[in-house]
Amino acid sequence: MNEFKKPNPVFWIPFFIEEIDISKLEFKEEPEYTPTFISRTPTTMGEDELTQESYNYLGRILWECIGQYTEKPFYIGSVWRNKYVKTDWQDPHIHSGAQWSFVIYVDVEESKTVFLSPSRHNQMNQWGHLGHAFPLDFSPKISPGNIIIFPSFIEHFVPPGNEGITISGNIYYDQPPGGPC
Ligand SMILES: [Fe+2]
Repeated sequence: MNEFKKPNPVFWIPFFIEEIDISKLEFKEEPEYTPTFISRTPTTMGEDELTQESYNYLGRILWECIGQYTEKPFYIGSVWRNKYVKTDWQDPHIHSGAQWSFVIYVDVEESKTVFLSPSRHNQMNQWGHLGHAFPLDFSPKISPGNIIIFPSFIEHFVPPGNEGITISGNIYYDQPPGGPC
């Protein structure tokens, strides 16, 4: 049996998966879901706002993760709720203009979000015939009560099969559409 040398991981992308207390996330208004996106998944996008206390709590959790990348203050620009039934899904997208994005799994059985490698086109082109030597996607199994934080340029999608609510949001360093946290 061959003993291979351990590779050095380079060009890696930071993802954070952390516990979060859902009971500390309160919205100012009852949700009004509107079918949105190509999939017509019900969302409160553009209509939802957390209470200031909740922004503060969420801001602290975010800071503990992303604060190591720049000392610039960040802004939680938008937060919205998606309500899935088993046939709902979301097409591949990035969160344009934001620096970080997050998804909080409130009461879905398990996360379904699939994150795509930003170099997958090159990987498939050069290596596709050799099998999946390097990962093309990341499909974490995350339980309710957790948040995943990722760079907004990471494309992702949601296949059907989930039921329940998630909270998504964007984080900006410049030209904040929301308030400071
Ligand atoms: Fe998204």
